[in-house]
Amino acid sequence: MDSFEFNKVAMAFLGAVFAIFSLSLLSDSIFHSDVPEQAGYEIAAAEGSTGGDTSAPAGPAYEPIEALLASADLAAGETVFKKCASCHTWEKGGANKVGPNLWDVVGGVIGSHHPEFKYSAAIKAYGESGKSWTYEELNGFFFKPKDHIKGTAMGFAGLKKTEDRVNLIGWLRTHSDTPVPMPGS
Ligand code: HEC
Repeated sequence: MDSFEFNKVAMAFLGAVFAIFSLSLLSDSIFHSDVPEQAGYEIAAAEGSTGGDTSAPAGPAYEPIEALLASADLAAGETVFKKCASCHTWEKGGANKVGPNLWDVVGGVIGSHHPEFKYSAAIKAYGESGKSWTYEELNGFFFKPKDHIKGTAMGFAGLKKTEDRVNLIGWLRTHSDTPVPMPGS
């Protein structure tokens, strides 16, 4: 190899190194993105298995509340409602916020109770057959909204304590001109 040949080979080699180096710089700047550790908003994800689990008990995971409603602590229910107040008002004629106003909701038709509110397709489909907000429906929904009505827009994890649901639903019931009768009465 004479020196001229050698120079050519060396130049080719340097050229290749340069090309690779600049390519990697470039692709770094194109493909590198700062992925935030947390998404901008939280999506309440269902934990646990996603179907296919045949060993799960058939009944609902939450305790029925009908028998307990008579002993609901209304003041405690009002306190529980603080968790809901960022999205809901309860007063008669109250505004819709992220969620619909909840005046007279107990006994109302699911997914169309509040005429001016834009409900999700999921909750509308759920209530299409004329289902109403019975104590049992509210109990299941408040226990874990996204499990009870898959695809609901209500971004709330749920009230796991039976006591909280009893007190809250007992309190919610009173916000109506004609409260739905207590179970068994
Ligand atoms: C982050 C906002 C948010 C929070 C917190 C929240 N909700 Fe909701 N809620 C919604 C939205 C949005 C809807 C409408 C759901 C849909 O369209 O799928 C809704 C729907 C409802 C409904 C059905 C109303 C109707 O007109 O049919 C009830 C009842 C309800 N929420 C009660 C509660 C209670 C009680 C709490 C607290 C334990 C609560 N929500 C917490 C946003 C929220």
